[in-house]
Amino acid sequence: MSIHRDPDADDIQLYSDLPPPIHLPTSELLEHYNPNVLAPLVRCSKLPFRHLTSLYETHITHTPMILAEEFSRAQVARVSDFSTSSSERGVYWMTPSTSSSSSPKKRGKEAIRVNHPDDDRPETPNELITYYNPPSTHSDRLPPTPTPPTRDAVLVRGNVIAQFASPNAKSLVDAAELISPYVDGIDLNCGCPQRWAYNEGIGCALLRKPELVRDMVRAVKQRMGWGWSVSIKIRIDPDQRQTETLIRNALASGISYLSIHGRTRHQPSTDPVNLDGIKFAVETVKGEVPCTGNGDIWTYEDVLTMRERTGVKGVMAARGLLANPALFANYSSTPPHAISQFISLSTTYGLIFPLFHRHLAYMLESDFSRNEKVWFNCLSSSTAAIDWLEGRGLDWRSARGSIWDARRGRGVVSAL
Ligand SMILES: Cc1cc2nc3c(=O)[nH]c(=O)nc-3n(C[C@H](O)[C@H](O)[C@H](O)COP(=O)(O)O)c2cc1C
Repeated sequence: MSIHRDPDADDIQLYSDLPPPIHLPTSELLEHYNPNVLAPLVRCSKLPFRHLTSLYETHITHTPMILAEEFSRAQVARVSDFSTSSSERGVYWMTPSTSSSSSPKKRGKEAIRVNHPDDDRPETPNELITYYNPPSTHSDRLPPTPTPPTRDAVLVRGNVIAQFASPNAKSLVDAAELISPYVDGIDLNCGCPQRWAYNEGIGCALLRKPELVRDMVRAVKQRMGWGWSVSIKIRIDPDQRQTETLIRNALASGISYLSIHGRTRHQPSTDPVNLDGIKFAVETVKGEVPCTGNGDIWTYEDVLTMRERTGVKGVMAARGLLANPALFANYSSTPPHAISQFISLSTTYGLIFPLFHRHLAYMLESDFSRNEKVWFNCLSSSTAAIDWLEGRGLDWRSARGSIWDARRGRGVVSAL
C-alpha cells in the first residue's frame, strides 16, 4: 500500500488520510494473514467481550454457541442470544504471511470466491449478492497506529462469526439466513461435550455423524451461496480414522475453514492440549482450506508454538482470553486499560451483572489476594463492583479513552 505521508503530520492528520480497510472473507483472512481468534464461549463471548478483545489484536471473534432451532423459531431467542454493533469489528494493520501464494491485496475484490467447484445449481447471478456485502460498511474504528508497521502491511477489517448448534440442516439453514446480514459467516459446533447436548444430537454428537455434518454444511452453502463462510469446530477423536472421515466429508461439503480443538470429547480442559492431534487434522486437510488450532493458549509464546507445531494458520484462544483479553497483543496479564475499556463497553452496550462480575473475576483472578477474592465475590451489583475497583485505584473514566480506540496496542503491534 503506497500511502504518501507528510513527515510533519500529526496523528489526527495521519489517521484521517488512511484508506478504508479491506473486508475479506474469513477463509481469505486465515489463508493470508495468520489471524488471532476468540473462541465461541457460552455466555461469555457476547458483544462487549468480543469488542474488548478486538481492541487487542483479536482479528476474528465468535459468538457463544446459539441453538439454531430456537433462534430460527422465536424472536425472543434472537433478541436474547445475539446483539452486534457496526463498530465491533476492529481495524488492523496486517502483513500477508510469506507462505501465501497469491495475496488478496493483489487480487482486490476478486479475492471473494463466489463459486464452489461442486456448485451444480443453475446460475442465478443476482440472487445472493446481498450476502457478499460486509454486514455494515460504516465503522468508527481505527487501527492501533496510523503508520503501517511493515512495508507490506495493509489495513484489514476483522470478522465476526456466529456459532450455532443444530441437530438438523433445516434449523441451521434458517438460522444462518436470519443472522447473515450481521455476521461474516457461521460455524457449526461439533465439539460441545455436555451430556444434554449429546442427548439432543448436537455438539460432539456430530463428531461421528460425518454425513449429517456434510449435509448440514452443504444445505447452508446452497441457501447462502458458496462464497459465504461456513466452518465447523471439532474436537479430535481418539480414533484418528474417525477424524479423517469427518474431515473428508466436511471438505466435500465445501467448508470454508476448520477449527480444531486438540482434546477428545472425554478429555477435561485440565488435560494438556494434544498438538500432534491438531497436526494430524491439519495434514488430513492437505491445505484445501485453512485451519485454526485451539487449546491451552495462555501466552504469546503459546500462539507461536501452536503455529509452528501444527501448521495451523489461525490461533484460537478461549480461557486464555477470558483471563487476559490483551493476550494476543502480547500483554502477559490483563492491563488496567483493558479493565477500563471493559467497564466502558459493558455500560455502553449493556451487560447483566452476573456476566459483568464473572468477566472481571476472570481478568483479575491472578491479581487478587485471597481476601480480595472473598470481598469481590460478595459484591452484588455492577455499581458496587466499579466502586470497589475505584477504591483499589482504578481510574477507569480517564483511562478508558474512546471505546473505539485501539491505540492502546501502540508499540505492542510493532514489537510482535
Ligand atoms: C466458559 C466456556 C464456554 C464455552 N463455550 C463454548 C461454545 O459456546 N462453543 C464451543 O464450540 N466451545 C465452547 N467452549 C470451548 C472453547 O471454545 C475451547 O474450545 C476450549 O475452552 C479449549 O480452549 P482453551 O484451552 O483455550 O480454553 C467453551 C469453553 C469455556 C471455558
